[in-house]
Amino acid sequence: MPARDIIIDTDPGQDDAVAIMLALGSPDALSVLGITCVAGNVPLPLTSRNARMVCELAGHPEVPVYAGCAAPLARPLVTAEHVHGRTGLDGPDLPEPTMPLQDKDAVSFLIDTLRDRPAGTVTLCPLGPLTNIATALTRAPDIADRIAEIVLMGGAYFEVGNITPAAEFNIYVDPEAAAIVFRSGVPLTVMPLDVTHKALVTAPRNNAFRALGTPVGLATAQMTDFFERFDKAKYGSEGAPLHDPCVIAYLLEPSLFSGRHINVEIETTSELTLGMTVADWWGVTDRAPNATFMGDVDADGFFALLTERLGRL
Ligand code: BDR
Ligand code: CA
Repeated sequence: MPARDIIIDTDPGQDDAVAIMLALGSPDALSVLGITCVAGNVPLPLTSRNARMVCELAGHPEVPVYAGCAAPLARPLVTAEHVHGRTGLDGPDLPEPTMPLQDKDAVSFLIDTLRDRPAGTVTLCPLGPLTNIATALTRAPDIADRIAEIVLMGGAYFEVGNITPAAEFNIYVDPEAAAIVFRSGVPLTVMPLDVTHKALVTAPRNNAFRALGTPVGLATAQMTDFFERFDKAKYGSEGAPLHDPCVIAYLLEPSLFSGRHINVEIETTSELTLGMTVADWWGVTDRAPNATFMGDVDADGFFALLTERLGRL
């Protein structure tokens, strides 16, 4: 089977970085057409710098990286340096990137690629706030029918919130953008906190990254070492949750995940529950299903896949 064409939309972030490397380590299955950066964990100049540092670390400076939206559609940017550190990629000591940022903006790249490629062949993988994707869908509504699928990290049902008591970070930062994406009619697969909080880098899993004995293995161990502090203190969990790599792992091995095809709406007005993913997990409304909302992951299988693919870089 030919490799599947994907665009990674991202705000690196240590877990975004691992997701990018998982994709770049799987060229037989995934062809990364481009990486589009958005403001999220840290402001846009840092996310677009970090994405290029990760491509260079992975030995893939040829991957085109684009900068997109610097702020959410209707609100000031909320960032997460308290989780990811001042640079967004704290932990390893990586060199400044030398590969260029593309001249074209990320939204134009998304629109042009979806129009130029055969309909139904390009999958979008958003790993941050949905500002770039919603802007592209609003500016060029014709692309909705051309997107093969959107597989995204965002939201929560049983785990409720991480940035507020009710909301997960990616959706909270730009709820208006999320509402546009969830109502777009594009086939959606969602990796919420319910799944990603089970994908924890325990000490043996971190040792397995380090034992790869490569720059990628070492940097991954150092990134997850840094990133775990926040979740260990907050949740008492065993290690850092690898949220965003769940998106790429799903493309590679969907059987690792299970969930339900349900209705998911985004709260955009309430002060208390802004950005909540109101997921009809129990089917108590007659609202039409619009997303496959995942609930579980085979964590050992996920880490075996991830470690093996990182080992190829
Ligand atoms: C999401 O928010 C970011 O901090 C992570 O990179 C992930 O995409 C988890 O809520
Ligand atoms: Ca992210």
